[in-house]
Amino acid sequence: MEYQSITLELIKLIKNKKELNSLDDSLIETHLLKYKNEINSILNKYVSFKQFQKSAVCKDIISSIRADLREIYGVFIKTNLNNFEKNITKLNNYEDPLIEKILSGHQSSIERLNHYSKTYILIFNKLFEWGLNKKYSLIDLACGFNPFAYKYLPIKPTKYLASDLSTKDMSLINLFFKNTKIKGEAIALNLLSQNDTDILKNHYDVCFLFKALDSLESKSRHSSKKLISKINSDFFVISFPKKTIGGKKEIKLSKRTWFERFSDQNFSKKEVFEIENETFYLLKK
Ligand SMILES: C[S@@+](CC[C@H](N)C(=O)[O-])C[C@H]1O[C@@H](n2cnc3c(N)ncnc32)[C@H](O)[C@@H]1O
Repeated sequence: MEYQSITLELIKLIKNKKELNSLDDSLIETHLLKYKNEINSILNKYVSFKQFQKSAVCKDIISSIRADLREIYGVFIKTNLNNFEKNITKLNNYEDPLIEKILSGHQSSIERLNHYSKTYILIFNKLFEWGLNKKYSLIDLACGFNPFAYKYLPIKPTKYLASDLSTKDMSLINLFFKNTKIKGEAIALNLLSQNDTDILKNHYDVCFLFKALDSLESKSRHSSKKLISKINSDFFVISFPKKTIGGKKEIKLSKRTWFERFSDQNFSKKEVFEIENETFYLLKK
């Protein structure tokens, strides 16, 4: 057996969980690379993948990669965006009541559902006061299902770039943009991949990074500082959860000390406000 054929089988197995099956094979392949030497060193012990699949090593690799992918992606998915494909295909208006149903499919947007309108008004009132042009462009990174909340934006952007990990999810957001005539585009980006983040050199007036930095930091410490420094935007709206997923534990303010310091050092203006489950930082370069 060869590493490459094993990889393909492993990817299929790892994705065989509904909360992970929209993820790109290439992302899972990157996670598998960590185990390449381990897999190669035991390959000749097995004559078939079926046999290898029964080994403790294989089971450990699968469960560890699934746990990683759940932590960064799967845990937030309450209903796969795929399940809304028929609804999205039929949508022709971004104000359609079905939007609430779609937003309820993601942990972050369901928690924001009763707060979207006032939150977006607070955000944009402040950004316009700080000099943001009413004709602004927007980039929404690690967006989850947030682009479906377009109707709540008090003034619509001249262009809206959305991105998250899954190509399949991004194709459904593109379908939503197209059917509802939003000037937007969605692309799959891994914010921890050097190659992917080259696109961030393009200028967007406002950058949203909602509840994204904890995931990035959990995988690669200090990655968010590097990422923010790369993003070519004048205004940033960065949010953090106030509680751990499932609302079980409050997240200690001391966990955000690094961000308080970083934002004080790198931005000329800063304003912080809170809603039920989320703390927002409004920042101007
Ligand atoms: C807590 S959710 C927030 C979603 C959305 N920003 C919101 O607040 O509605 C975190 C998001 O980060 C995305 N994510 C995690 N790691 C990522 C990475 N390396 N690159 C891009 N997106 C990532 C996940 O897929 C998930 O959609």
